[in-house]
Amino acid sequence: MRETTTPSGVLRSALVLRILLLLGIGAAGALNAQPQAPPLAPALKPVRPGKAPPNPYSKKLVARGRLLVISSGCNDCHTPWHLDPDLGVPAPDWTRMLSGHPEGGPDPQGEVGPGDIALIGPTFTSFKLPFGVTYSLNLTPDIDTGTGSWTEKMFLDIFRKGRHLGGDGRPVYPPMPWDWYRTRSDEDLKAIFAYLRSIPPLRNMPSTEKIPPPVEGVIVELNNKIIALQANPGAKLEAPKNGPPPPPALALKPVVTGTAPKRSYPADLVRKGKTIVVAGACNVCHTPWTYNPVMRVPAPDMTRMLSGHPEGAPDPQGKPGPQDIALIGPTFTSFQLPFGIVYSKNLTPDIATGSGGWTEEKFLAIFRTARHPDGRVLLPPMPWDMVRILPDADLRAVFAYLQSIPPLRNEVPAPKVPPEAQKMLEGVNAKMLLHAPGPH
Ligand code: HEC
Ligand code: HEC
Repeated sequence: MRETTTPSGVLRSALVLRILLLLGIGAAGALNAQPQAPPLAPALKPVRPGKAPPNPYSKKLVARGRLLVISSGCNDCHTPWHLDPDLGVPAPDWTRMLSGHPEGGPDPQGEVGPGDIALIGPTFTSFKLPFGVTYSLNLTPDIDTGTGSWTEKMFLDIFRKGRHLGGDGRPVYPPMPWDWYRTRSDEDLKAIFAYLRSIPPLRNMPSTEKIPPPVEGVIVELNNKIIALQANPGAKLEAPKNGPPPPPALALKPVVTGTAPKRSYPADLVRKGKTIVVAGACNVCHTPWTYNPVMRVPAPDMTRMLSGHPEGAPDPQGKPGPQDIALIGPTFTSFQLPFGIVYSKNLTPDIATGSGGWTEEKFLAIFRTARHPDGRVLLPPMPWDMVRILPDADLRAVFAYLQSIPPLRNEVPAPKVPPEAQKMLEGVNAKMLLHAPGPH
């Protein structure tokens, strides 16, 4: 571990230490461990302005793209996180907005356990996967290190082909949710590109991914299969001949059909809500991932669509480092954070365990107040502060869509987060609600 004595490094670790001591949480994140000082985080290079090409796009298109980028959570992974001095917890550093993994910034420090999906590093821009490390790229319009030299066609082809820079070479790697974003229309993807052309250009060259060549081949094949299945859900595909060994088997309870209230919504409203949910990648965290023998990797299990962390499914197995943001467990529905373990919720319309018992107003209030319908504080990593940029009309469409999907009975366990931490996070949410959603 590198050490620094820069003022920001000291400030950062002092604040982290204060929070950890406040919560009585040890450096490893174990709830009962003795409090101890985490090692100092490496200081990042200062922010450097870049040089952007002229932006020919209309204000209207840029505004549409801004809404899509913020509500789809692109900033979660492409804007480096720091210890926010105002909030006292890690949050996106808007002075580095969308500039990707900072040059020389830290890799994830801990270990993924057997079956875990990924470990998110200290700046939320480096990702340790079971087979390598990936880094989010610079999406600002800097000509040398960002998207300034890309054409609109290259940008669209990244999503259409699942290949780096839209070419024919290496695949786009996880955890970039390109497969969900590609369900957007060309117009929407162009709006995203237009917005990215309008933001401040920052000069920053993220590290090169660390992926062994055999894995690269497997992921090319995987991405091609995802595209084939989206074009034809009934396509018969074969398992790859080579590939990583399967993760330990998960013993999940069978899927149980629930009971939805009798509600009906106009078809176009449901369709609009579906686009927001599917293209907004809500399934990534709310649909449990299980081993998919055709893909030969864990993938979202659509027979459990949007039903949240399965009853009895495993917690994250590995060990996050002291500054890592989160460890994602084997079903992508359990998240180990420095203050405890949080589980994604059941959004299907089952009355007893999902969203069927909520009114539309209660649903809107989740995003407007950062609380669950039962009043409990909404915890990370739910990106509510980004999703809440959606106008009420869009959130109503999301609710209509959620009421139209198969109800599944699945009681998600309560988060393992001590009451003091929940109290602290209530204060954090209250402060976040004082700002406009997203960049400020
Ligand atoms: C869960 C984290 C995550 C989220 C959310 C995310 N990205 Fe990414 N993105 C990544 C990572 C990691 C890479 C690097 C992947 C690689 O090296 O192939 C990446 C790469 C990219 C690339 C370059 C792909 C290539 O290799 O040519 C583009 C463009 C991109 N992201 C755009 C977006 C946009 C737009 C959004 C929001 C709509 C978004 N990303 C949301 C993690 C994320
Ligand atoms: C990075 C993972 C992640 C993504 C992406 C995500 N969620 Fe969540 N979501 C969670 C987690 C974890 C919780 C539970 C938080 C808690 O217990 O306080 C949650 C909670 C919620 C809740 C509260 C449910 C309840 O029972 O009170 C709603 C509603 C919700 N998410 C909707 C969405 C929608 C809509 C999207 C897509 C626009 C989305 N989520 C994307 C992780 C995620």
